[in-house]
Formats: sequence, C-alpha cells, structure tokens
Amino acid sequence: MPWREIKAIKPWAESAEAATRPFDVPIFSGSEVVDRLKAFQQNRTSEQNYMAMYSSVLDGITTDPAAMVIPMDDHMVHRGHGVFDTAAILDGHLYELEQHLDRFLRSASMAKIRLPFDRSTIRSMLIQTVSASKCSLGSLRYWLSAGPGDFQLSPSDCPNPALYAVVVEAKSLPTPKGCKVITSTVPMKSRQFAVMKNVNYLPNALSKMEAEEHGAFAGIWLDDEGFVAEGPNMNAGFVTRTKELIMPYFDKILSGCTAKRVMVLGQKLVEDGRLGGIKLGNVTVQEGKMADEMMLIGSGIVVKPVLQWDDQIIGSGQEGPIAQALFDLIIEDMRSGPSTVRTPVPY
Ligand SMILES: Cc1ncc(COP(=O)(O)O)c(C=O)c1O
Repeated sequence: MPWREIKAIKPWAESAEAATRPFDVPIFSGSEVVDRLKAFQQNRTSEQNYMAMYSSVLDGITTDPAAMVIPMDDHMVHRGHGVFDTAAILDGHLYELEQHLDRFLRSASMAKIRLPFDRSTIRSMLIQTVSASKCSLGSLRYWLSAGPGDFQLSPSDCPNPALYAVVVEAKSLPTPKGCKVITSTVPMKSRQFAVMKNVNYLPNALSKMEAEEHGAFAGIWLDDEGFVAEGPNMNAGFVTRTKELIMPYFDKILSGCTAKRVMVLGQKLVEDGRLGGIKLGNVTVQEGKMADEMMLIGSGIVVKPVLQWDDQIIGSGQEGPIAQALFDLIIEDMRSGPSTVRTPVPY
C-alpha cells in the first residue's frame, strides 16, 4: 500500500463509529517494512540529506537513508540513556574532531555508558563513515548509547553499549547574520546534566520553540544565580564597553569546543589592539544587555551576532566588527588551521 494511502486512514475520528470500526491497521512483513521505510524517506520534505550511517548494531555503514534506523528497545530511545557530539565537515576535513571526541567520551563516562570500542577505534569508525558518505561539506553527528536490550530502566541487561553516527550534508556554510534572542522561561538543566552532552534536549527544544514563537533565534538561559548561562545549542559571548571579550564560566553549562577555540584564535585581536583581553567570567543580564556586542557561538552557527535581546537593542543594533572577525577566524581555521584541529578524511 503506498505511503499516502496509509496517511489518509489517520487521524482516527473520535466517534462511536471509530470505536466499533473493525481493525484496519495494516500488519507488515519485514520486506514490506523496508518498502515502507523507503517510501517514507522519498516523501520526506526536509532539506537535509543523510549521506551515511554507522551502527554498531549493524556492525557496518549504510548509505541508504531508509536503513538508517535504530532498535526501539535501545535505552537511548526510551530512557534517554545516551550521549552525543558532532564535528563539522569542510573541504574534506573534520574540524575539531579530537576536541569533540574528548567531550564525547567525558559525557559517556558521566552518563555511565561503557565504551563499545576504544577511542581510536571509535575515531576510525567515525572517519570511515564520513569517507563512505563522500560528503565534503556538512556535519558528522554521533551517539553512544547504553544500548538495545529491553524496556527496563536499568541497562544491566543490555548486552552491549551502542555507537551510531550519521553524516548530514550541508548546502552552504553558515553566515554571520545578526539575530534576536529572548530570555528563556524554560528552566535550564541542573549543573550535573548541563555539563554533559546527553540526549535529553527537551528543555533545549522547548526553549528554541519559545524563541521562535517570539520571532527570535534562540532563548538565553540564566543560571541559578541569575548570571548568563548559554543558549539551547550554543554558548554566548559579550564584548564589553572596555573591549573585553567575556564568556560565562563553563562550570554549569556545556563547555563549547567553538567557544574555546574562539578564546584561542581571538588572541590575534588582542595582539592587534581590537580587543583589550579575553576571559571567562560571570555576566549579569544588565552587563550583557549593555555590551557593545553580543554573540552566540557554536559549531552549527560558528559566531552569530545578537542585535537584540528581549526589548534591548545591543550596541549599535548592527552586526559588530568583533563578531565578524571571530567568525572569519574560525572559518579560516576550518579551512587551513593546524592538524590539531583538522582531520583529513581519506575518501
Ligand atoms: C547546550 C549547548 N551549549 C553549547 C554548545 C556549543 O558547543 P560546540 O561549540 O562544541 O558546538 C552546544 C552545542 O551543540 C550545546 O548543545
């Protein structure tokens, strides 16, 4: 049965007629499921192309998006017992793979997820997945899970933890276009869960949705002391009136690989006098809103200037020169940085 016909059966009418209707949910054989999954992929309206997936359950890689599935009884699916990380792919290189891998393994340890393989094997599998994808611009996303096994809470009967990785193609690089942010009213995660990149991104997704409902790009979380924390998938940075770049301490938030790299590369702006210094520190809402520049920093957006926070216009209300310069420095680093941040993919 074609996909469209199945969709037409739903949603169920809430009526007496529906209650007495004979069972009409189709039951598929394994091969019919494969056909249905293919039809589902063909009917996807998303712009994103999935180029390859590695699964330790399959013990291999597939380039067929219809086959990029994980078992329902995987504890990452039904208990959120998983961690993940990413790395950008540009010009056939993975950017900051080692730094993201370090955080990935730290997250796994905090989530008490055993490693299915040692670090160098995980690294090799990730690179092989990008190689199989033939993707030269996009992102690699990867997960470690307590693994499939049952629908209990404890993973004690999951025989093996699982590793999954997906390569998603990008059409173009991000641009440093200014945006608006709001203060998020969705509570942020407590320190224990905010510092590890675990798959519980429900608060993050709700915060993003709240921002979109207000015509904003992202919500900014404040920590339990009222200081600026982070966005739902990015860090925040501020250029003060005295030209200092300040980013919130990483002790209650995710320690961003891009933000850390910005701190290193930004020294160039200190040397040429465009910045007076770069530091981590507490930033109050008042200080943040009065900053010369505010920016969001993360591997998906690189460096994105903030032009307005709630009702407050930031600085001149235009994209600022420091955010632009930091964006350019990261892109240059992605294209021609040292081997410590660029891992070549042998296609
Ligand atoms: C909550 C959160 N904070 C910050 C970041 C930025 O981290 P990175 O620069 O490593 O992408 C992310 C990235 O996804 C995130 O999810």
